[in-house]
Amino acid sequence: MEIMTLARPGLSELVTAVRGVTHRYADPRTTVFAVADVLREHLPSPEILTEAERAGDAAGYVGHTLYTEDAFSIMAVVWLPGQETAIHDHIAWCAFGVLQGAEYETLYRFDGDHLTEIGRSANQMGHVSGFAPPGDIHRVRNIGEETAISLHVYGADLSATPTSVRHIYDLPVR
Ligand SMILES: [Fe+2]
Repeated sequence: MEIMTLARPGLSELVTAVRGVTHRYADPRTTVFAVADVLREHLPSPEILTEAERAGDAAGYVGHTLYTEDAFSIMAVVWLPGQETAIHDHIAWCAFGVLQGAEYETLYRFDGDHLTEIGRSANQMGHVSGFAPPGDIHRVRNIGEETAISLHVYGADLSATPTSVRHIYDLPVR
């Protein structure tokens, strides 16, 4: 069970700042860029997670839901070296920042019976960016040697819908 507390270092300031912009814009793309700016300015340290949480899990990457309200949720994800997501897209916009290590992201385009790779990025510690569906099909992996930690702000109440994933794509990549 997740511990939901604003006492985590940096969380309360981030929640207040994110709330200030999510209620200002109706358009998801405008909102996610504004949230990314807020996240860049208020990016917490890895100590927003406890030492036990930062240790990760050999069974797979772990998401910790740190905060939820109607308009947005904040989740931290811990990736040990070699761990990766399935290829997926999302139910809502997402702004994310890398708190430790690096995340490697591959972007895909849906072409009916297959996917086409359309881009790659290596997001180092301190990197912040965001996206809004559609066109957000991706896979994230930690191919580095250090445990990676990222912080995600999703434009959805993840207490009502426990995952930000809309769809998992099990298709050949060409
Ligand atoms: Fe994702």
